[in-house]
Amino acid sequence: MNAPANHQFRLARRPVGMVQRSDFEFSQVPVVPPGDGEVLVKILYISLDPAMRGWMNEGKSYIPPVGIGEVMRAGAAGRVIASNDPAIAVGDHVIGILGVQEYAVARAKQLTKVDPGLVPLPVYLGTLGMPGMTAYFGLLEVGKATAGDTVVVSGAAGAVGQVVGQVAKIKGCRVVGIAGGHLRSIGFDAAIDYKSEDVKAALKQHCPKGVDVYFDNVGGEILDAVLTQLALHARIVICGAISQYNEATMKGPANYLSLLVNRATMQGMVVFDYASRYGEAAKEMAGWMASGQLKTREHIVEGIETFPDTLAKLFTGENTGKLVLKVAGS
Ligand SMILES: NC(=O)c1ccc[n+]([C@@H]2O[C@H](COP(=O)([O-])OP(=O)(O)OC[C@H]3O[C@@H](n4cnc5c(N)ncnc54)[C@H](OP(=O)(O)O)[C@@H]3O)[C@@H](O)[C@H]2O)c1
Repeated sequence: MNAPANHQFRLARRPVGMVQRSDFEFSQVPVVPPGDGEVLVKILYISLDPAMRGWMNEGKSYIPPVGIGEVMRAGAAGRVIASNDPAIAVGDHVIGILGVQEYAVARAKQLTKVDPGLVPLPVYLGTLGMPGMTAYFGLLEVGKATAGDTVVVSGAAGAVGQVVGQVAKIKGCRVVGIAGGHLRSIGFDAAIDYKSEDVKAALKQHCPKGVDVYFDNVGGEILDAVLTQLALHARIVICGAISQYNEATMKGPANYLSLLVNRATMQGMVVFDYASRYGEAAKEMAGWMASGQLKTREHIVEGIETFPDTLAKLFTGENTGKLVLKVAGS
């Protein structure tokens, strides 16, 4: 029998501005067998994350950029179809950094086994995966949110933001979400549509005692607006700045002296720093999911060939919930 073909997206060039199809090369290569300590994974779902835009740029970051000609880096979930490692069996489901392709050979040690009988596979890429961990540790460890705090979260309809808002509610906070128009109610106390409202005025209205925790997913003008409304000792979690990722020159906050006046802190976070504690967070969040306190929302698009256009949805705000590419059914 002929080995199946592996379709993959490789980075063809460094993007300028908004990511485009021509930044990638769609190629076909034969599937290769796994070596010692490796497994062959049939990829079922690929996670599309804003960070992928940063990985396409040259330059120093918390992780090296994807090289030109390399398979585009992405988290993914799949089924093991060949194994050369006793820790993982054929038929096991796994998640890991497997790339934008249909099949991946990976070191067994770098994969995490998951059970699709407990929750659907895309949830392991969203609420119980990297975005969910980001929300949990960013809000509770960096933002130090506690009952009674007013928490504002931007990107509130997205993968990280929806979890931030819901966890804050579970912890007894008052939650104001900022999103581009389609923030369907998931129990937040107020929603601000940054595309049609004056964010500064709306914050004043919804946070009369000021903002105790701001979980920032977008940066830019929204960060500047929130800075004008801080409470004393506010904590700002710099999780991301998606409004700036496609800009040639990033715009920083002008209203930062509000940190001085309010004795506030602004702290960056990288989720990987909490890797040793993912199990603890996943257990607590799975419990909240089982009791119906935490809802997950995934936005699933079918077909690996749609990858560049689907990735662009993150930057045009077309996704609600965790954006996932479905590559195969089983
Ligand atoms: N620090 C870490 O370790 C870490 C880990 C994971 C993610 N992140 C960051 O967390 C943020 C959210 O990631 P995610 O995976 O949850 O993505 P997401 O929120 O599911 O998707 C991105 C959303 O950003 C909003 N957006 C796009 N352009 C915007 C703009 N110019 N101004 C305001 N909002 C804009 C859009 O929603 P609207 O419809 O509301 O416009 C879009 O749906 C990103 O900044 C990402 O880089 C950081």
